[in-house]
Amino acid sequence: MTDLNGRRILVGVCGGIAAYKSAELLRLLRRQGAEVRVVMTSSATRFVTPLTFQALSGQPVANDLFDDPMAHIELARWAEAIIVAPASATTLARLAHGLADDLLSAIGLATEAPLVLAPAMNQAMWRNPATQANVALLRQRACLLLGPAEGEQACGETGPGRMLEPAELVEALAGLFQPPLLSRRTVLVTAGPTREALDPVRFLSNRSSGKMGYALAEAAARAGAEVILVSGPVSLAPPPGVECVQVESAAQMREAVLARVDVCDIFIAAAAVADYRPAHRAEEKIKKSAETLRLELVRNADILAEVAKRSPRPFCVGFAAETENLADNAQAKLNAKQLDMIAANWVGPLAEREHTGFDSDHNALHVYTRDSDTLLRKSSKGHIAEQLIELIARHYHERYSAQDSRPPHRQ
Ligand code: CTP
Repeated sequence: MTDLNGRRILVGVCGGIAAYKSAELLRLLRRQGAEVRVVMTSSATRFVTPLTFQALSGQPVANDLFDDPMAHIELARWAEAIIVAPASATTLARLAHGLADDLLSAIGLATEAPLVLAPAMNQAMWRNPATQANVALLRQRACLLLGPAEGEQACGETGPGRMLEPAELVEALAGLFQPPLLSRRTVLVTAGPTREALDPVRFLSNRSSGKMGYALAEAAARAGAEVILVSGPVSLAPPPGVECVQVESAAQMREAVLARVDVCDIFIAAAAVADYRPAHRAEEKIKKSAETLRLELVRNADILAEVAKRSPRPFCVGFAAETENLADNAQAKLNAKQLDMIAANWVGPLAEREHTGFDSDHNALHVYTRDSDTLLRKSSKGHIAEQLIELIARHYHERYSAQDSRPPHRQ
């Protein structure tokens, strides 16, 4: 039995040359045991006849909003998931703007089922800012966009705009019905910089924006985990559904983490914690006097190392920001702190040239465990976070599968 067995899937077909691939999509869905109903836009019927889809789905194909005035509501309620493949630029625009002037867009507006969109169009139409803005809106509203792929197009041009292959669409659709990767798990994430006070108005800090940690907290929550985010001062809104604890100094971050770590299964230390703090915090503002001023700094406790030393302990993931010898330095930290995983990225001039690292919206990570090495290529921090959470979940489940997938302290 597959994840799609017995599932009610509504397939929307829009006008485009890729509509012929929808026949194969239908065949694969039926083969996986799904119940399938098809809705075609009027332009789709110019490319493939409804009869083809009727024969493949074993159900009449719906097309006209007014054939049955309640069809859009009935189909919207019937579907457990809706996949529009191919999704044309027009239908993406209709869905993004909440128009309901044909059957498919009316269903899109009326449904509470997940909406999966597999765009297919000419590469210039895809790249057009109007289409990109519609796609961004749809993503924001939690629609799952699959593709498009790059390659040669029916119009003779080359670029992004090809519909993904039906087998890839079926696999992604099946993923919707799998239990979330981190359901019943609690993930504790640290993020952002810390501030180490010199006097009432000055502090030592660093350039961490918190974007990576916040993206990880969001991705973990989307993967079904309960998430606690312990954050240094940043200008980001806490992700939806995440418990956020705001702190300033490394000492406060340590206290907040240690107070919560016993209930967590996975600890991700993404914060750029200050290694040192001023030995003395002046009560009053430090006045300028001598030409030079010497500051005495003392070491802060290493929160991650402290958590990793506990027994029992959560699955521990650290970060390493390096300007040289990335692999050696990261692996040395993995071993020294006895971590389960470390995610290393370049910082400094090299990272700035590549627009990754601190304060950037992009990142690239080399992820090491004791016996694996995975490269997450440059991408948005959101996408990198999603991939890293997947990787963490995979290693976490592998490690604890013999014990009902839980670290020993949660048994
Ligand atoms: N970390 C921590 N508490 C600290 C310092 C670091 O939890 N006081 C965590 C960070 O969140 C990160 C990892 O440890 O996950 C970074 O390790 P660290 O050895 O501090 O790396 P760098 O700051 O890059 O250290 P170094 O300057 O020695 O390269």
